[in-house]
Amino acid sequence: MKTFASDNYSGVHPQILQALVDANHEHAVAYGDDPLTAKTIRQFKDLLGESVEVYFTFIGTAANTLGLKALTNQYNAIICTDTAHIHVDECGAPERFLGCKLITIHSDDGKLCPTDLTQFESLFGFEHHVQPAVVSITQPTELGTLYSAEEIKTLADYAHARNMYLHVDGARIANAAATLHQSVKSFTFDCGVDVLSFGGTKNGMMYGEAIVFANNKLSSNFKYIRKQGMQLASKMRFIAAQFSAYLSNDLYLQMAGHANAMCQLLVESLRTIPDIHITQKVEGNAIFAIVPPEIIAPLQQQYPFYEWNTERHEVRWMCSWDTSEEDIKAFVSALNFCLNRQSVSSNSC
Ligand SMILES: Cc1ncc(COP(=O)(O)O)c(C=O)c1O
Repeated sequence: MKTFASDNYSGVHPQILQALVDANHEHAVAYGDDPLTAKTIRQFKDLLGESVEVYFTFIGTAANTLGLKALTNQYNAIICTDTAHIHVDECGAPERFLGCKLITIHSDDGKLCPTDLTQFESLFGFEHHVQPAVVSITQPTELGTLYSAEEIKTLADYAHARNMYLHVDGARIANAAATLHQSVKSFTFDCGVDVLSFGGTKNGMMYGEAIVFANNKLSSNFKYIRKQGMQLASKMRFIAAQFSAYLSNDLYLQMAGHANAMCQLLVESLRTIPDIHITQKVEGNAIFAIVPPEIIAPLQQQYPFYEWNTERHEVRWMCSWDTSEEDIKAFVSALNFCLNRQSVSSNSC
């Protein structure tokens, strides 16, 4: 049974599994000095530009935390939204490992814009205040919305004009590329992004994320940071193997495009149901909706999903690379069944 809880619930694409099997031959030099890792880094450079520097990690929290570590000192601050994964869902890892303050800005749609940032200009150069060093955004955002390339460029220009960096949490960057119909490079490094967490796990990989630096100046000490951060994989070739298959023949775009298309199919059905109120633009593979509270628990028994905001009864439904049209139909009919039962009796469905 498929769920709509998270793309983290989905399994591994067969081509990625096959790549792991294919990599499982003989011995290879450890810690990333192997031919498969070199080949995969070449693929990343072909995709994102010759000057990028690529480092693999096991998980996304580490990709964000260590990427940010390369940009900051302990007296710095990182500005992000109040829904940012680095703020809400990383158990304080950035604060713990960086020693930096996270300054959050409330955002209804999960996005930041330069006018949100001007309030912090008085912090610069005053020794009693933390010094903002990084603006961190998520693309697509935690609320399923997207920045355009122009919006990212405006933020990068704003940050650079103040000697700050722009960091992008791209745990689902493939979903952004699939919706925008633009290359990842065109809305990240071409727009001035300094460091990108390039996700793989949520979109059909078993594990593995990449930290991508715009250039080698930013990453000059990063090999030490990654080792101290406990993310230097000894058998690196198994992360590389997955990413190599992921990037080959645009598999990452096919999987993300499919998840996004299923999400559009689901939201079209949901829009025809009067009791369901979609709260955010649906621009990736996530839908946010306010639903009658009585249906949440019974529906969750059949289809696990997260209640995002318990006060508002706002839920999140997410599609994955392996969600099918039949899954959508079955989910919508279970939802309708719960809604109809609820209108007959308010007990349960
Ligand atoms: C926006 C975002 N960033 C980063 C992550 C990485 O998390 P993890 O450390 O669980 O791989 C996630 C996972 O859900 C996420 O949603």
